Amino acid sequence: MTPYIEGIINDLIDGFIDKGTVEFVSEFAVPLPTLVIADQFGVPREEAPKLKFWSDAAMEALGLMIEPARELECARIAIEAQHYFANQFEDRRENPRDDMISDLVAPPPDGSEPMSMQELLDMMSQLLNGGFQTTTAALGLGWKLLLEHPEQMSRLREKPELIPNFVEEVLRLETPVQALFRKVTEDTRLGGVDIPKGAEVILLYGSANRDEEKFDDVERFDVCRKNAGAHLAFGAGTHFCPGAMLARQEMISTFTIMLDRMDDIQFAPEQDDFDFPPSLVHRNLRTLHISFTPR
Ligand code: HEM
Repeated sequence: MTPYIEGIINDLIDGFIDKGTVEFVSEFAVPLPTLVIADQFGVPREEAPKLKFWSDAAMEALGLMIEPARELECARIAIEAQHYFANQFEDRRENPRDDMISDLVAPPPDGSEPMSMQELLDMMSQLLNGGFQTTTAALGLGWKLLLEHPEQMSRLREKPELIPNFVEEVLRLETPVQALFRKVTEDTRLGGVDIPKGAEVILLYGSANRDEEKFDDVERFDVCRKNAGAHLAFGAGTHFCPGAMLARQEMISTFTIMLDRMDDIQFAPEQDDFDFPPSLVHRNLRTLHISFTPR
């Protein structure tokens, strides 16, 4: 998918490069993964903002820090999304195409039962909620780190082959999904603490990624860190993120192309304090103003 991803990246950059400045979150980090996921689903690009609207509401509810009235509103929005996708699934059963929605409704090749509508909608909500805002966050947080550490940006300019390792270091240090929930299925002792069967726990990936026993000098941002890729930002085991390779490629291509097409990249004067929407789960920037000289 790399040439396809690079095509979208270059089109988005063409849209702002002559200005010499960009609000990176709304003009790039939101549209890139949203357009990619819309194309993969087989939803028209004009409807991509709707996907973002539905996903925002789901994220807000998942982050747990909202008022009951707003939670109800988010539930209503989730039902609107379900109606939309139920129609899409019905349509692809009749008119299959080369897209992910058609693949999901198709009978499995091993002859097992196709997914029920409830399973399909659940799958869709996982893809919608996991599938692009996490990448938006990783892109913004990656630039924030580079702009705060210009000496590390120079290293990437000198040696672009370090960019994949830099991407791993961003995921380690910023961890866009800071935490997720689990139910303990058997009595467990972990790090000297007894956790009874049935307990609900929060796994803090962000904490694991700063484990002093695993990483040297954990707070330091180092694009050359040898074991940067040993992070848990995509989880582990059965539920390891199926979008990890896609997200990595979107990040690698973005930083490669932007460093190639722009010089003197820095925070623009409008960028004040960083504003992170409140959430127990996600770490995401609201805005990121950047200035640069087009090449
Ligand atoms: C930088 C971007 C991303 C980050 C940090 C991220 C992080 C995660 C994490 C921490 C999990 C949970 C793993 C676990 O439970 O152990 C997960 C699961 C998941 N992710 Fe991602 N993700 C990213 C991008 C994506 C993309 C691009 C897609 C889809 C195109 C995606 C789809 C999913 C799905 C469907 C799951 C649920 C998997 C399951 O429960 O079996 N993610 N992701």
